[in-house]
Amino acid sequence: MEDGKDPAGITLSKPNQSRVLPPRLIQLLFLFLVLCFSICLFVIYMIRKTEVTTTLASSIPILRACVEEQPKMNLDEWIKPPSTLLHTMSDEELFWRASFVPQLKSYPFTRVPKIAFMFLTIGQLPLAPLWERFFKGHEGLYSIYIHSLPSYEAKFSSNSVFYGRQIPSQVAQWGRMSMCDAERRLLANALLDFLNEYFVLVSESCIPLYNFTLTYHYITNSRYSFMGAFDDPGPVGRGRYNHNMLPEVNISQWRKGSQWFEVDRNLASFIVSDTTYYPKFEAFCRPACYVDEHYFPTLLTIQAPNLIANRSLTWVDWSRGGPHPATFGKSDITEAFMKKLHRIQNCVYNGEPSSICNLFARKFSPGTLEPLLLLAPKFLGY
Ligand SMILES: *[C@@H]1O[C@H](CO)[C@@H](O)[C@H](O)[C@H]1NC(C)=O
Ligand SMILES: *[C@@H]1O[C@H](CO)[C@@H](O)[C@H](O)[C@H]1NC(C)=O
Ligand SMILES: *[C@@H]1O[C@H](CO)[C@@H](O)[C@H](O)[C@H]1NC(C)=O
Repeated sequence: MEDGKDPAGITLSKPNQSRVLPPRLIQLLFLFLVLCFSICLFVIYMIRKTEVTTTLASSIPILRACVEEQPKMNLDEWIKPPSTLLHTMSDEELFWRASFVPQLKSYPFTRVPKIAFMFLTIGQLPLAPLWERFFKGHEGLYSIYIHSLPSYEAKFSSNSVFYGRQIPSQVAQWGRMSMCDAERRLLANALLDFLNEYFVLVSESCIPLYNFTLTYHYITNSRYSFMGAFDDPGPVGRGRYNHNMLPEVNISQWRKGSQWFEVDRNLASFIVSDTTYYPKFEAFCRPACYVDEHYFPTLLTIQAPNLIANRSLTWVDWSRGGPHPATFGKSDITEAFMKKLHRIQNCVYNGEPSSICNLFARKFSPGTLEPLLLLAPKFLGY
């Protein structure tokens, strides 16, 4: 019955179904299509989304890197002084880094030249309060570098101009190559700041003889660097020359001079990059030779004789005789003594006679600080 019914129903309903089912089928088909379409859309959406996410994910670090790297492509980033004087470079690495010299001599930015004051000290700076007063109000026109014994720990307060100005140092002995190394290390560290154009070497016993304004103008307007260099025919001059220095250095080029120099950027770069004369001095200017009195003066006399004034800016008193210049103590600092510091002298400045010859003086003991602070405003102008 059912068997017969079914075929009958089927046959009967066939034409019916073909009329009833198509809308159903269409409905189903439509639903199916909608489902398919949705799934497709969802899949496409998911693919797109993951693609976008992947693209974004991969592009974000690039974007970030771009954002970080952009300031480095900016000139300001290159000319900005290092934010800290601390570094882990060896002398070899430091001198190489400091030996870079721009080939274009005109600067594509406005630039106020700074004087680098390089303090070569054993430990503390007893006359720091005097120097603080000298520098006060002239920020941006100077920078400070201190080379002391590595064991010395500086204790300057954070508002001091000397705070954080210690460079990585090594032991330096008077009369030895290690002293020249310390001076070159100071120059190299100071060269890392592109705005340093002049480099003055001073010690803890030095004092400035004039106010900052005069000092700055004297140095920055000079056509020559101030390197003491003279030909001393005696035993402590030519007598220290060693023939093994030939052919780089012959006796007529041999010079003597005080180590307290002032050089411009050009000569400073030259000094830190010297590999020709250095080995000769290191090997053949032994302790009794006092290499720190000969290396720089001889080097610059050979390589840049027309760029040095052959005199130092730092006055010392040899009048008391003996192998060492006079050290002034507290009782020496009188009004008469202070007047003497500005006494009329005769020297040549930019080819003209000048009455101002020395900008610095040494050697002042720590005890002189108090009277110097008292008398400096009236007699030294700061
Ligand atoms: C600096 O000293 C010079 C000469 O001693 C003087 O003419 C000048 O007025 C001083 N400048 C300042 C800013 O004190
Ligand atoms: C030393 O070297 C210079 C430059 O090379 C030369 O002009 C001079 O004649 C030399 N003097 C001696 C004594 O050899
Ligand atoms: C310094 O001395 C050298 C010779 O050693 C000379 O050629 C040069 O002209 C001197 N410098 C000045 C400014 O007189």
